[in-house]
Amino acid sequence: MNKNASDESDVRAATAAYQAEFPYERDEEAQVTRREFCNFLGLTSAALFVGAAGFAAKAALDARKSESLTPAIINGADALAPNSSLNFNFPTERDSAILVRTADGAYHAYGQKCTHLSCPVYYSRDHQRLECPCHEGAFDAATGNVLYGPPPRALDTIEVETRDRQVWAIARTAARRENGG
Ligand code: FES
Repeated sequence: MNKNASDESDVRAATAAYQAEFPYERDEEAQVTRREFCNFLGLTSAALFVGAAGFAAKAALDARKSESLTPAIINGADALAPNSSLNFNFPTERDSAILVRTADGAYHAYGQKCTHLSCPVYYSRDHQRLECPCHEGAFDAATGNVLYGPPPRALDTIEVETRDRQVWAIARTAARRENGG
């Protein structure tokens, strides 16, 4: 056998001085390390679980949130012909939205961002539905629900109300995920 080859006894001998100052037996030391490691894993798992649960709860809350906002007149809505649409902004200038007047004369309004990757949806008069040009998603014009394609949930809904022939946007609601989450 090669005399220079390291084995267990060589290692013990090499660390003898170190162990004299810190008198832990190797086996006990390994056990403490394993216990500490298990504790660490347990605490880390618990912390991750609590964090994930918090995020999930917040997402669920946000998904059900209906914002009460300052009502705003949707300019031009009164002159909108059935089976057509117009774009507006609500609740702020940065929030693009789309008002659809369906063939039956009813008004429906939605956030214009597709719920897949936020491309702006448009109203297709031919198909009488909202369509997303990016990945061929489509939404029901009367409900905002997904008809087909990759969007995971319905469009955000903007509640509208007609007062003295003017159409007002009064609230905005983020839809829940299609799978109910
Ligand atoms: S962004 Fe609308 S379908 Fe992908």
